[in-house]
Amino acid sequence: MQERRPMIQLCRLHRHFGATRAVDDVSFEVYRGQVFGYIGPNGAGKTTSMRILATLDLPTAGDAFVDGFSVVDDPDRVRLRLGFMPDYFSVYPNIEVREYLDFYARSYQLRGTRRTEAVHRVMAFTGLDTLADKPIDGLSKGMKQRLCLGRALIHDPPVMILDEPAAGLDPRARIELREMIRTLAGEGKAILISSHILTELAEMCDIVGIIEQGRLLAVGSVDEIQQRSSQHATNAVQVRVLDGAEALGRWLTGRDGVDQLRIDGQLADFIHGGDLASEADLLKEMIEAGFRVVAFGSRRQSLEDVFMQVTEGLLQ
Ligand SMILES: Nc1ncnc2c1ncn2[C@@H]1O[C@H](COP(=O)(O)OP(=O)(O)OP(=O)(O)O)[C@@H](O)[C@H]1O
Ligand SMILES: [Mg+2]
Repeated sequence: MQERRPMIQLCRLHRHFGATRAVDDVSFEVYRGQVFGYIGPNGAGKTTSMRILATLDLPTAGDAFVDGFSVVDDPDRVRLRLGFMPDYFSVYPNIEVREYLDFYARSYQLRGTRRTEAVHRVMAFTGLDTLADKPIDGLSKGMKQRLCLGRALIHDPPVMILDEPAAGLDPRARIELREMIRTLAGEGKAILISSHILTELAEMCDIVGIIEQGRLLAVGSVDEIQQRSSQHATNAVQVRVLDGAEALGRWLTGRDGVDQLRIDGQLADFIHGGDLASEADLLKEMIEAGFRVVAFGSRRQSLEDVFMQVTEGLLQ
């Protein structure tokens, strides 16, 4: 059974910069073995909340906890329990992969064989062992991301905060990242991972939270969020009839939930507001009314549509 004590907890967190409410009353929890996708457009407040969790910034009000320790009152204990992968990678010249990881292991007070083992474990996990002696400024973007993830894992923390780790990765690197993240969650780590692209994270997250202008607009599993918004969905429907498309157009005009109707040859395209049951009823009535329907297609909302619907696209 899953342990119910949250490993990451935001409690009515606020961070204001002058008049800008970068984080505005955000609360959520992430448990052991869970991957929480933090999704929002540019300027939504993702990095600001993550920096507070990583003890690099302080809240204006509210608090955040890592493994039960407050980022405000207990930052040292928080740091030991958390690995943070920022959305930038600072390149140090003249340093090799192994040396770089060793440096970070040292900064976590790992000594002797524990340090060597930590560096080996991380290089093996991230697949960087074959590049151990390569200078890091010559690594590809994907390899740098792995190194950055490895750096955040060096002290084997139970909590990971990853700020846009998939940004700029090619499809293969993204799949590999997803597998690494799922492995870490399988080991019991609690993982908070951000992106402004919902589909980029959908497959690796157990839960997603959608944030915009500092406010958390929706939290739930990908399916829940999709379903919740599809209750008020505007699905794109396309009906093909054998004949009588014009008559179908007249029949559809003014019906409840039908909007933006267009007739083109044998096709009727329209936007339908309502759930899937009301769409099934519409099809039934259409057939009962004598229309010879060849195809009835309703495009289920894609995650991007849901995202566009939940957020208003307001930049700040
Ligand atoms: N140090 C700062 N001083 C003033 N305003 C800031 C500061 N840091 C962030 N902000 C503002 O806070 C808001 C949230 O920014 P944040 O970087 O957290 O967004 P984000 O969701 O990470 O966006 P992105 O997807 O672009 O990374 C923005 O309006 C930003 O301009
Ligand atoms: Mg950011």
